[in-house]
Amino acid sequence: MEPIAPADPISAVTHSDPYPYYRALARSQPFHFDAALKLWVAASAGAVAEVLDHPDGRVRPAAQPVPPALAGSAAGDLFGRLIRMNDGAAHATLKAIVLRQMAGLDLADVRARAHKLAAALPRVDRNDGHEANRWMFTLPVLTVADLLGLPLECDADGHVSTRVAGFVATFAAAMSPLASPTDVEAGVAAARWLTQSTGSHAAAGDGLLHQLAQAAGDADIDPATLTANAVGLMIQACEATAGLIGNTLVHLGRSGWRDADIDASVDLVARIDPPVQNTRRFMAADATLCGQVVRAGDAVLVLLAAAAHDPAAAAPLHPWTFGAGRHGCPGDALARVLAVCTVQALLARDVHPDRLLANLRYRPSVNARIPNFQSIN
Ligand code: HEM
Repeated sequence: MEPIAPADPISAVTHSDPYPYYRALARSQPFHFDAALKLWVAASAGAVAEVLDHPDGRVRPAAQPVPPALAGSAAGDLFGRLIRMNDGAAHATLKAIVLRQMAGLDLADVRARAHKLAAALPRVDRNDGHEANRWMFTLPVLTVADLLGLPLECDADGHVSTRVAGFVATFAAAMSPLASPTDVEAGVAAARWLTQSTGSHAAAGDGLLHQLAQAAGDADIDPATLTANAVGLMIQACEATAGLIGNTLVHLGRSGWRDADIDASVDLVARIDPPVQNTRRFMAADATLCGQVVRAGDAVLVLLAAAAHDPAAAAPLHPWTFGAGRHGCPGDALARVLAVCTVQALLARDVHPDRLLANLRYRPSVNARIPNFQSIN
């Protein structure tokens, strides 16, 4: 039986097959106002590009730089300093530094570090689904922590501690509009731990964190903001990369994995079953957007996943999931390598992607498509 089409672009994120719906939207409603969601919706590749390029499109509502649930806490302080959540000068200077450092990463070195960490991660559960869920949310973040130069503890058996990845996932969950008060409370504790432990290493070592700290110092950037954005790299590496890994495992489960080219599979999945399905912009001034009059304060839901499936797109192979324009993802190449290494490590640990397909569900989310595997084996 055909699945029922998603009710709206938010429920599309976790729908079993939202792509026919996205294609129809891109074709017939490239930019429209959804009265029920009270949001403008950009669906075609052209509309998505225009919104992301608009100078008055901001990443946060003017009156709410930090979500009310986090405001006034350590989690709110961390959130409010992230370049991802700022515009203007606060964003541009640090973004240039982050872009330069990310572009300078040696991806062969990243692969070697990820494989080394994978070798120190024991398989703790016989269930393939549980193991895949666990690795998706740990190996990429541990590798970024290692790149930053943060010390990762090992136990007497040489197994690496996943503590930092646990705190990062807890903070990331607290940023969601779906977070419960308990999630937020845990996120505040996680923010405190992450800020403290990352901040205490900014002056030491020769890793990415030290290089970022030096560049930030030269540009007169407040050390607390630098620390927040170093933590931010681990946060950005968490859910979206988990989604890219999970969606690649789903793809391999459906299409066969024994002789699959994992690099090519990850690239394909980033386009056709992307982990970040949408992002938002908030208009700072009245403007004309995609031929329509929009008002200051209006919010726009930017359907990256619809743009990637737009049958009329000028560049049909563009991986929209990494965004575009001023706020475009500086970690796209790194994310792909982390996803490839994690998928390879799971296959090497005898996780069979086809066993992950039973009862396939996605984690509740308004923007990220991340499988929550519950295979029984
Ligand atoms: C599959 C994995 C990833 C996906 C799909 C992804 C996607 C995105 C998207 C869509 C944005 C822009 C959001 C917007 O414009 O509203 C973004 C921003 C960002 N990403 Fe990624 N990302 C991924 C992994 C990573 C990794 C591994 C890092 C670094 C370690 C990273 C670092 C960042 C940073 C710092 C920003 C903020 C840039 C800015 O606001 O100017 N991302 N990412």
